[in-house]
Amino acid sequence: MSADFYDTGPALAQYLVLHYGPPGWQLPSEAFHALADFPVRCVREGFRWEELPPDPHALELGCAVGRSCFELSRICRRVVGLDRSETFIEAARLLQKNGSLLSRVPLEGDQAAERLFSLPPGVRPERISFHVGDALSSPLGDSFDLLLAANLLDRVPHPAALLQRFSSLLRPGGQLLLTSPFTWLPEYTPRQHWLLPGSERVAALLEPLFTLLSRWDLPLVLREHPRKFQWCLTEATLWRKKA
Ligand SMILES: C[S@@+](CC[C@H](N)C(=O)[O-])C[C@H]1O[C@@H](n2cnc3c(N)ncnc32)[C@H](O)[C@@H]1O
Repeated sequence: MSADFYDTGPALAQYLVLHYGPPGWQLPSEAFHALADFPVRCVREGFRWEELPPDPHALELGCAVGRSCFELSRICRRVVGLDRSETFIEAARLLQKNGSLLSRVPLEGDQAAERLFSLPPGVRPERISFHVGDALSSPLGDSFDLLLAANLLDRVPHPAALLQRFSSLLRPGGQLLLTSPFTWLPEYTPRQHWLLPGSERVAALLEPLFTLLSRWDLPLVLREHPRKFQWCLTEATLWRKKA
């Protein structure tokens, strides 16, 4: 898997299914449907909404094809979604403009089927702006009330620098939801920048600037083809920026 994997057709299919597929496409067995809709669960279960100001401003880094941004748009007045993959952001923008997107998902071998992916009712696409950019360096302003970074940390070349950046993007009292399976790979992160063990090193780096509110396991399942799935047990942590 190369650093450009997220700009390929197979990656687009995997993330469209993860973000917009009905549970039956994400996971054929009903026994596992509680694991579906990872990007929705991040937004609904991840933040302490009652502690945030009304009409908050939200930022998602590594938003992929954008489902969490659409979920955030139900509650937030402004949502910024950023991802390095042009393929993913193009798909997110097409969903934003048209409400649906026809795309191919793999079956067996070189076979594929066309599927229509649609936005759920009640989201507010006009509140969102999607951008192609680098989470470590793109200018984004600094006035966000909440920040979501799901499964991005182990895909950037300098994770400690990303953790440092979170604080500069949030206002005091703002909430940061971080999820990661800590899958360190040299094709994304040079060995000397891996944070090992992830849970402890992330906490040590964030604790001077943030208060840890909760830590829990947040599973997700990524469909490769109808009979092959990646099950990841991400660690979720919710943080509040200190005053
Ligand atoms: C493992 S995927 C997670 C996607 C999504 N957050 C989710 O959980 O479904 C990692 C995402 O981070 C994006 N990404 C990787 N490096 C990035 C960077 N430096 N800046 C912004 N996005 C990046 C990839 O394009 C990909 O969409």
